[in-house]
Amino acid sequence: MLTGGVNEASLNTVGRLLSEVSREPGFIPQTEMRSLHGGDTTSAVLQTDPDGLTLMLGKFSPKEETPVHNHSSWGIACVVQGRDRYRHWHHDDEGQLKVLYEKELGPGSFVTWLDPPHDIHSQQGIGDPAFELVLFGKNTMTIPRSYYNPETGEVRTALPQ
Ligand SMILES: [Fe+2]
Repeated sequence: MLTGGVNEASLNTVGRLLSEVSREPGFIPQTEMRSLHGGDTTSAVLQTDPDGLTLMLGKFSPKEETPVHNHSSWGIACVVQGRDRYRHWHHDDEGQLKVLYEKELGPGSFVTWLDPPHDIHSQQGIGDPAFELVLFGKNTMTIPRSYYNPETGEVRTALPQ
């Protein structure tokens, strides 16, 4: 599927496909949508392939922004319901963690990010929770991720909960 390797163009191609299939009735199991109604920000693994490719369904709370974090993997996040304020972060020339860009995503719109160090972001639902499909190149549930405090520069590493 990713002929020519993982780059912005190939991730955009896959993002468009993800956006298309996400609108097909039944693509997202309703049981999974219901299981995510508990917590404020939660996620469920829909499928993991032996090569690591992992599709998740996430719910992002409007009440507070997620911590700034990475996944040690490229990824594609496509909104299926609600609206999301997505912030992409990077270390500037002085090594300070700064917002590179901010984007409002509605149903069908998506963002992509490359492997580290290009995989740092934070998200928050707008008004209501935002539900999103997130496709990762690796099984990110088994890989520690880093949590960044942009104010203090502190970085904490932990396995996903
Ligand atoms: Fe994330």
